[in-house]
Amino acid sequence: MSDQKRVFSGAQPTGNMHLGNYLGAFRNWVKLQDDYECIYCVVDMHAITTWQDPATLTQQTREAAAAYIATGVDPEKSILFNQSRVPGHAELAWIFNCVARLGWLNRMTQFKDKVGKNREKASCGLYVYPNLMAADILLYKATHVPVGQDQKQHLELTRDIATKFNHDFKTEIFPIVEPVIMGEGAKVMSLRDGTKKMSKSDPSQYSRISLTDDADTIMAKIRKAKTDAETLPATAAGLEGRPEATNLVGIYAALTDATRNQVCVQFEGRGFGDFKKALTDVAVEKLAPITTEMARLMDDPAEIDRILVRGGERAQAIAEPILQEVKQVVGFI
Ligand code: TYM
Repeated sequence: MSDQKRVFSGAQPTGNMHLGNYLGAFRNWVKLQDDYECIYCVVDMHAITTWQDPATLTQQTREAAAAYIATGVDPEKSILFNQSRVPGHAELAWIFNCVARLGWLNRMTQFKDKVGKNREKASCGLYVYPNLMAADILLYKATHVPVGQDQKQHLELTRDIATKFNHDFKTEIFPIVEPVIMGEGAKVMSLRDGTKKMSKSDPSQYSRISLTDDADTIMAKIRKAKTDAETLPATAAGLEGRPEATNLVGIYAALTDATRNQVCVQFEGRGFGDFKKALTDVAVEKLAPITTEMARLMDDPAEIDRILVRGGERAQAIAEPILQEVKQVVGFI
């Protein structure tokens, strides 16, 4: 393992983790554990940029940690903690609030999508959310950040912040991070609308498969998933202009470690009735052990808390000297 490489990533505990989180993020986090020093964070401070009921937030923070572990994050090998335990995230975010430019944040599509016409009513935290994300990563001088496609713009902003900070303060303290966006699951779309991403905040439960869904629920959701009237094409090129078909084929590909093209070859000419049955089988096969393990872990919340406390201590030990170095560069005494 090289000293130069450190992985950081996180997810918001704002609802049940879903198939998009698993295929776009968690699965790749697990793969990176053998080659990198990895830090995986439950970003509870990001969560409160929109209203969260306190008791629900606590429960969902534990459930997010359980999802990380159940999908294969090893809390001995990697560092697993919740963000609010390490004060440096907030401290560095403030410094970055003073580095990032309003024009940069105004370009963030996720903010625009989230607030729609209600911009004036959005919290200030939601607006500067990407600066906190940059702080999460750079507090550990992380070099590699495994995420789904939707986080790409935020990582470009992280690079801009690091570059401007290094330039303004004539230092090379911060690395320029590399996004790690892998595989066919990098952009899982809603089961109800193939042009919208699968998301925790979609009001329809049928838009997503949650990691807590049992086999019957998964089957019902896939059965109801939107499709079109055609059969499956011979190659992935034939999926062009068919967002729902593209998505379901992509999910099947990601779950079976195949490409969309290979899945098309396998199911060429078959209708969605057949294909949905096959998809249900692989989804249940892959997700059932995760759901069972999450339930087992959630039976012992005190153990999850112990893991988060220990992870927080390990994270703090890395963050503290870096934060001191940053403060010195800025001129704080
Ligand atoms: P969040 O909580 O929305 O999602 C967690 C991870 O899951 C990925 N993801 C998806 N991948 C594929 N298809 C989807 N439909 C899908 N939905 C979500 C996300 O890309 C992400 O990797 N801002 C981040 C959390 C964060 C973070 C960080 C990430 C805070 N600080 C520092 C990396 C590094 C977020 O809201 O992710």
